[in-house]
Amino acid sequence: MKKTGNYSAKTREIVKKHGGEKSALIAVLQDIQEAFNYLPKQALKTAASAMNLPLSRVYEVATFYTAFSLKPRGEHVVKICMGTACHVRGASSIQDKFERTLGIKPGETSADGKFSLETVNCVGACALGPVVVINTEYHGQVTMAKVDKIVGKINKEGAQS
Ligand code: FES
Repeated sequence: MKKTGNYSAKTREIVKKHGGEKSALIAVLQDIQEAFNYLPKQALKTAASAMNLPLSRVYEVATFYTAFSLKPRGEHVVKICMGTACHVRGASSIQDKFERTLGIKPGETSADGKFSLETVNCVGACALGPVVVINTEYHGQVTMAKVDKIVGKINKEGAQS
């Protein structure tokens, strides 16, 4: 887990990169999330004071967009599309399979900090349904066997590094 000091220093660096402009708040939050995989409380406080914004305003934006997470997330964020097109193609069974394989429910992170599971609405690739997005990578026509393959591959990569 990163230390508080790191959150502040990195956040100040991010705010500076965006020129400290109030209008850059969303871009700042996006960069903070990219750096830490979620929006740590300390980083939001630092951003608010560095940008001369009330903390309530920062929280308002951070909680409005579902892409932002205020809870620590795993190294790999698994987003299962629950949009209509994916739903009719079996997204619920894919969700069950991920839950059983990873041992977590949507909104949770595995104990080893490796995976977080989330459900999302249409990710714009309906023709490929059911779709699962892992970090930024899209996986289409996901089947039960494919879930094992995807998770196995990520675990293998982790074991090698
Ligand atoms: S409904 Fe899943 S990508 Fe559109």
